Amino acid sequence: MGSFAIKAVAKSVPQKIVTNDDLTKVLDTSDEWIKRRTGISQRHIAVNESNTEMGVKVANQLLEKSGIDADELNFIIVATMSSDYQTPSTAASIQGIIGAQNAMAFDINAACSGFVYGSTVLNALLAGNPGGKGIIIGEEKLSKLVDWHDRSTAVLFGDGAAGMLVENDGSSSQILAEDLKTYGQLGSSLTAGHFPEDTPFGSNEKQVSQYFKMDGHLVYNFATTKAPASIQRALDQAGLQADQIKFFVMHQANERIVKRVAKKLSLSMDKFPLNISDYGNTAAASEPLLLSELVDKGKIKRGDYLALTGFGGGLTVGTMIIRY
Ligand code: ACO
Repeated sequence: MGSFAIKAVAKSVPQKIVTNDDLTKVLDTSDEWIKRRTGISQRHIAVNESNTEMGVKVANQLLEKSGIDADELNFIIVATMSSDYQTPSTAASIQGIIGAQNAMAFDINAACSGFVYGSTVLNALLAGNPGGKGIIIGEEKLSKLVDWHDRSTAVLFGDGAAGMLVENDGSSSQILAEDLKTYGQLGSSLTAGHFPEDTPFGSNEKQVSQYFKMDGHLVYNFATTKAPASIQRALDQAGLQADQIKFFVMHQANERIVKRVAKKLSLSMDKFPLNISDYGNTAAASEPLLLSELVDKGKIKRGDYLALTGFGGGLTVGTMIIRY
């Protein structure tokens, strides 16, 4: 592996907060049900911000924090399943707005595993580019993919963006292990963004839904078996024991999933920080949002071992072990 040196982390979430009580005004649900079944109290919903605008805020903070000019960037990767447009990509829009004229920019979509998948891609690109600099942002505007009449999914998701700026500065890589797996045969258990294909020659209109459709139980079982297995493979790859990891920065899809994964690994919840209560499930933004908060609060120090794990649409799962 090449050099992957994390220079800065940053986040940006929309201003508007929607509480569980706010949801009870538009859905047949309750604060008690949502908290007990998911751990979520509120989520941020982007009513005034585009996905691109959230990403621009993150990118500008990353540049400022690391003292790097936009035109020094070589790569901008955005992990998202809710880009403002099919084209241009969110990454290309951000590149244009911040003036990163020397960066190639593209989106990747691995749903809630997107940040881990995207970081892996950035790691590979930087490995062949000594002195290269790149940004990876996980960001979502999931509120536009939510059926606000469907209580089984509407209560789960939120919007937000977070990421990191990384440089191949010649030091040893901070990524110690990468474990990525895809289970495409399970893809239909979690879908969103299927739009009508209406041509003069035929139409698929009857079978489509642009909104989230999810087999919650299947995804729950998937997450609580595949995530711990991925973590274990990544630990083995890195030659580390679970108790050497300071924090398991897990995708915040459901507090119960995180607790179950901790139990399966025989680890205390002290090693599994949570912020789902404040943000809900923000898919690709989830792990960097939590990472960024932990760094801002001073809970992570340079040299700490961390495991970042995502799981979700695809279905996909991914873990990377980093030495922060
Ligand atoms: N408010 C009140 N009641 C509700 C709500 C709600 N918002 N939603 C469902 N219910 C009801 C159901 O109708 C059902 O009622 P019934 O017993 O009368 O039939 C009851 O609550 C129980 O429903 P379940 O679906 O069995 O509830 P469960 O405890 O399994 O929780 C949940 C559902 C939260 C979706 C859970 O299965 C889960 O977290 N699954 C994993 C989801 C996930 O991780 N997704 C991540 C991937 S996302 C991505 O990749 C973008």
